[in-house]
Amino acid sequence: MTKIAPSILSANFAKLGDEIKDVEKAGADYLHIDVMDGHFVPNITIGPFIVDAIRPITDLPLDVHLMIEDPDKYIPLFAKAGADFITVHQEACTHLHRTIQLIKGEGVKAGVVLNPATSAELIRPILQDVDLVLLMTVNPGFGGQKFISSVVPKISQIAKWREEDGLHFDIEIDGGVNVNTAKTCVDAGADILVAGSAVFNFPDRKQAIDNILQSIR
Ligand code: DX5
Ligand code: ZN
Repeated sequence: MTKIAPSILSANFAKLGDEIKDVEKAGADYLHIDVMDGHFVPNITIGPFIVDAIRPITDLPLDVHLMIEDPDKYIPLFAKAGADFITVHQEACTHLHRTIQLIKGEGVKAGVVLNPATSAELIRPILQDVDLVLLMTVNPGFGGQKFISSVVPKISQIAKWREEDGLHFDIEIDGGVNVNTAKTCVDAGADILVAGSAVFNFPDRKQAIDNILQSIR
C-alpha cells in the first residue's frame, strides 16, 4: 500500500495545528517536515522548536527532512523534539555512515536523501544501514516546483538493488508529486509519496489525497 506524506511546507503556517489535524483526518500516513537552514538550500523554515510543538497534537509519524549543513549538530535536538524519521542529504554529510549511526543511536529511523543530480552509486554502500531512501524529484528549497522526470530511472535502480540484496528500506519520493506524476514513481518502486502543494493547495484534503491514490491504481 503506497503511503502519502503531506509536506507542511505548503500548509498555512498561521493555523498550522488545524492544517495538521486536517490532513491526519484526511488519511495521511506520515507528516513530512521540511527543515531548511538558508545555507544548504536557499530558504529558511522549521527548527526543533516547531517539531516539539507539533509532536503532541498528532499521532502521525513525523518524517523530518533535514536540508541543512552540519546535520550532526542538530540531529539530537530533532530526535528529542519527537522525530520518528530523520533523513539527511548525502550531499551534506562528510561522514555519511557516522551520521546514519548517530540518528539510529537516538532511537530514530534513519534515511538518506539524494538531490536530483546526485548518482545512486554514492549511497549504495549505505543502503544496508538505512530505513529509508528519499529521492528528490525537484531541487530542494521550495514547494510547488515541477517534477524532474529524469530521476525516475534512479528510483528503479535503487528498487533493483533493494531486491537483489534482500534489503528492506522504503523508497520515498519528494518534489512535484501530484496526480500526473505519482504513478510513474510507484511503478518504478516508490513506497511513500511526499505531496505538499498537491494536498495543501486544495480545500478538500481528503479529496486531494484520494485523487493521488486513485491516480496510481
Ligand atoms: C522541497 C521539499 C518538499 C516540498 C514538496 O525542498 O523537500 O518536501 O515541500 O512540495 P511539492 O509537493 O509542492 O513539490
Ligand atoms: Zn521534503
